[in-house]
Amino acid sequence: MPPIGENAIARIRRDHAHMLQLTERIRAECTEQEVRDSCKDCAPVRRVVCRGNVEQLIRSLVETTLKHNLIESMFMEELVPAAHRLAHNQAHMAIARQLQAIRVVFAEDGNGIVAIEGIEQVHQSLLAHFREYDEQLEIHLAAAAPAPPS
Ligand SMILES: [Fe+2]
Ligand SMILES: [Fe+2]
Repeated sequence: MPPIGENAIARIRRDHAHMLQLTERIRAECTEQEVRDSCKDCAPVRRVVCRGNVEQLIRSLVETTLKHNLIESMFMEELVPAAHRLAHNQAHMAIARQLQAIRVVFAEDGNGIVAIEGIEQVHQSLLAHFREYDEQLEIHLAAAAPAPPS
Protein backbone atom coordinates (compact mmCIF):
# COMPACT_ATOMS: atom_id res chain seq x y z
CA MET A 1 0.00 0.00 0.00
CA PRO A 2 1.35 3.45 -0.87
CA PRO A 3 2.14 5.76 2.05
CA ILE A 4 -0.66 7.80 3.58
CA GLY A 5 -0.45 11.54 4.19
CA GLU A 6 1.58 14.11 2.31
CA ASN A 7 3.11 11.50 0.02
CA ALA A 8 -0.34 10.19 -0.83
CA ILE A 9 -1.56 13.67 -1.72
CA ALA A 10 1.52 14.27 -3.87
CA ARG A 11 0.91 10.94 -5.62
CA ILE A 12 -2.73 11.78 -6.30
CA ARG A 13 -1.82 15.18 -7.74
CA ARG A 14 0.94 13.75 -9.90
CA ASP A 15 -1.47 11.15 -11.33
CA HIS A 16 -4.09 13.82 -12.01
CA ALA A 17 -1.58 15.97 -13.91
CA HIS A 18 -0.55 12.91 -15.92
CA MET A 19 -4.16 12.00 -16.75
CA LEU A 20 -4.97 15.53 -17.92
CA GLN A 21 -1.77 15.62 -19.94
CA LEU A 22 -2.79 12.38 -21.69
CA THR A 23 -6.18 13.85 -22.63
CA GLU A 24 -4.35 16.88 -24.07
CA ARG A 25 -2.04 14.66 -26.07
CA ILE A 26 -5.00 12.73 -27.50
CA ARG A 27 -6.62 16.02 -28.50
CA ALA A 28 -3.37 17.20 -30.13
CA GLU A 29 -3.24 14.13 -32.39
CA CYS A 30 -5.89 15.63 -34.67
CA THR A 31 -5.45 18.95 -36.45
CA GLU A 32 -8.63 18.58 -38.51
CA GLN A 33 -11.16 18.46 -35.74
CA GLU A 34 -12.52 21.94 -36.41
CA VAL A 35 -13.12 21.27 -40.10
CA ARG A 36 -14.22 17.63 -40.31
CA ASP A 37 -16.78 15.32 -38.70
CA SER A 38 -15.06 12.12 -39.66
CA CYS A 39 -11.61 10.69 -40.32
CA LYS A 40 -12.98 9.39 -43.66
CA ASP A 41 -12.02 12.67 -45.33
CA CYS A 42 -8.36 12.43 -44.34
CA ALA A 43 -5.74 10.66 -46.46
CA PRO A 44 -5.58 6.90 -45.74
CA VAL A 45 -1.89 7.00 -44.73
CA ARG A 46 -2.58 9.71 -42.22
CA ARG A 47 -5.66 7.90 -40.94
CA VAL A 48 -3.66 4.78 -40.14
CA VAL A 49 -1.05 6.75 -38.19
CA CYS A 50 -3.66 8.79 -36.32
CA ARG A 51 -5.69 5.75 -35.44
CA GLY A 52 -2.66 3.94 -34.04
CA ASN A 53 -1.57 6.93 -31.99
CA VAL A 54 -5.03 7.73 -30.65
CA GLU A 55 -5.66 4.08 -29.79
CA GLN A 56 -2.38 3.80 -27.92
CA LEU A 57 -2.88 7.07 -26.02
CA ILE A 58 -6.43 6.10 -25.04
CA ARG A 59 -5.11 2.77 -23.79
CA SER A 60 -2.52 4.63 -21.66
CA LEU A 61 -5.23 6.93 -20.31
CA VAL A 62 -7.48 3.98 -19.42
CA GLU A 63 -4.64 2.12 -17.68
CA THR A 64 -3.44 5.21 -15.80
CA THR A 65 -6.98 6.10 -14.72
CA LEU A 66 -7.90 2.58 -13.55
CA LYS A 67 -4.66 2.26 -11.58
CA HIS A 68 -5.16 5.70 -10.07
CA ASN A 69 -8.73 4.86 -9.05
CA LEU A 70 -7.52 1.67 -7.39
CA ILE A 71 -4.88 3.57 -5.42
CA GLU A 72 -7.44 6.13 -4.26
CA SER A 73 -9.76 3.28 -3.21
CA MET A 74 -6.95 1.84 -1.10
CA PHE A 75 -6.28 5.25 0.46
CA MET A 76 -9.98 5.48 1.28
CA GLU A 77 -10.32 2.09 2.93
CA GLU A 78 -9.71 3.15 6.50
CA LEU A 79 -9.64 6.89 6.30
CA VAL A 80 -12.88 8.23 4.98
CA PRO A 81 -16.52 7.83 6.04
CA ALA A 82 -18.30 4.98 4.27
CA ALA A 83 -20.74 7.33 2.52
CA HIS A 84 -17.91 9.22 0.86
CA ARG A 85 -16.08 6.01 -0.06
CA LEU A 86 -19.13 4.49 -1.72
CA ALA A 87 -20.03 7.60 -3.69
CA HIS A 88 -16.40 8.16 -4.65
CA ASN A 89 -15.92 4.59 -5.90
CA GLN A 90 -19.14 4.84 -7.89
CA ALA A 91 -17.93 8.08 -9.46
CA HIS A 92 -14.71 6.28 -10.46
CA MET A 93 -16.75 3.54 -12.10
CA ALA A 94 -18.75 6.11 -14.07
CA ILE A 95 -15.53 7.54 -15.52
CA ALA A 96 -14.24 4.04 -16.30
CA ARG A 97 -17.50 3.29 -18.14
CA GLN A 98 -17.23 6.55 -20.08
CA LEU A 99 -13.71 5.60 -21.21
CA GLN A 100 -14.70 2.04 -22.05
CA ALA A 101 -17.60 3.24 -24.23
CA ILE A 102 -15.22 5.47 -26.22
CA ARG A 103 -12.86 2.55 -26.73
CA VAL A 104 -15.60 0.19 -27.92
CA VAL A 105 -17.02 2.67 -30.44
CA PHE A 106 -13.56 3.66 -31.69
CA ALA A 107 -12.54 0.02 -32.16
CA GLU A 108 -15.65 -0.46 -34.31
CA ASP A 109 -15.78 2.69 -36.42
CA GLY A 110 -12.20 4.02 -36.22
CA ASN A 111 -13.50 7.58 -36.19
CA GLY A 112 -10.86 9.42 -34.19
CA ILE A 113 -12.74 12.73 -34.40
CA VAL A 114 -15.64 11.27 -32.41
CA ALA A 115 -13.25 9.49 -30.02
CA ILE A 116 -11.46 12.79 -29.33
CA GLU A 117 -14.79 14.50 -28.65
CA GLY A 118 -15.46 11.76 -26.12
CA ILE A 119 -12.05 12.28 -24.54
CA GLU A 120 -12.79 16.01 -24.23
CA GLN A 121 -15.89 15.05 -22.22
CA VAL A 122 -13.75 12.75 -20.08
CA HIS A 123 -11.42 15.69 -19.48
CA GLN A 124 -14.38 17.69 -18.14
CA SER A 125 -15.55 14.71 -16.06
CA LEU A 126 -12.09 14.38 -14.55
CA LEU A 127 -11.93 18.07 -13.61
CA ALA A 128 -15.38 17.81 -11.99
CA HIS A 129 -14.36 14.61 -10.20
CA PHE A 130 -11.19 16.17 -8.77
CA ARG A 131 -13.29 19.05 -7.45
CA GLU A 132 -16.24 17.05 -6.14
CA TYR A 133 -14.49 13.96 -4.71
CA ASP A 134 -10.70 14.06 -4.67
CA GLU A 135 -10.49 17.38 -2.80
CA GLN A 136 -12.46 15.73 0.03
CA LEU A 137 -10.17 12.72 -0.01
CA GLU A 138 -7.12 14.99 0.18
CA ILE A 139 -8.58 16.69 3.26
CA HIS A 140 -8.94 13.27 4.97
CA LEU A 141 -5.42 12.28 3.93
CA ALA A 142 -3.95 15.53 5.21
CA ALA A 143 -5.69 14.96 8.55
CA ALA A 144 -4.20 11.44 8.72
CA ALA A 145 -0.67 12.61 7.92
CA PRO A 146 1.83 12.05 10.74
CA ALA A 147 2.89 15.25 12.47
CA PRO A 148 6.21 16.61 11.18
CA PRO A 149 9.19 16.01 13.52
CA SER A 150 9.61 18.88 15.97
FE1 LIG B 1 -11.15 10.03 -7.17
FE1 LIG C 1 -8.20 11.14 -8.44
